[in-house]
Amino acid sequence: MHMEYPNVFIMDHPLIKHKISRLRDKNTGTNEFRQLIEEITMLEGYEALRDLPLKDIEVETPLEKCMTPAIDGKKLAIIPILRAGLGMVNGITALVPMAKVGHIGLYRDSVTHIPHEYYCKIPDNIDEREVILLDPMLATGGSASAAVDYVKIQGGNHIKFMCIIAAPEGLSKLAESHPDIEIYVCQLDRELNEDAYVLPGIGDAGDRIFGTA
Ligand code: PRP
Repeated sequence: MHMEYPNVFIMDHPLIKHKISRLRDKNTGTNEFRQLIEEITMLEGYEALRDLPLKDIEVETPLEKCMTPAIDGKKLAIIPILRAGLGMVNGITALVPMAKVGHIGLYRDSVTHIPHEYYCKIPDNIDEREVILLDPMLATGGSASAAVDYVKIQGGNHIKFMCIIAAPEGLSKLAESHPDIEIYVCQLDRELNEDAYVLPGIGDAGDRIFGTA
């Protein structure tokens, strides 16, 4: 948990720390980078999905019938912020394959750093779902805040945001503009540079996932 914000959870697992060091390395290639993003998301998802509701179902073991808990995953909406959030989807759907998946397309203007929306499609009845927004990078926090605004306007009211690397500036912006959501962060980095990139960071996650740098 973060000292200032009770709804911010910062991961401290050594497996996550090790994999983030591999992400940081500029010599880590696209294939390994993509795989690491997926693995880290799965480990983070283990924490972020800790309060998933369960319902008892009947199962026949080799010995007898019993009632046993199962996840009611149909009420989950996984929403990556394009493009880089796409890299996290498989890590979560591996855990909850029955979840619905939406998309929010935002790109950050390279000069103003203001996010612009270009495509949005989210699962229906969003007000009845637990929404999990995915984006590996939280830099100024503009994209994440805009994505949460969008989901709320559509009726979403139970929202979690999962990222891998956050800058203190972006984390404060998101936590203060949306104090009602839970924010999961694998690594809180030092600061933003003048181009609004996270330092020391992992570079441009979208470009490194898709090999477009
Ligand atoms: C990057 C990143 C986040 C956003 C973070 O996306 O993937 O979505 O910027 O920055 P912010 O917190 O300052 O808004 P970008 O706009 O470069 O698009 P991409 O994912 O398509 O590369």
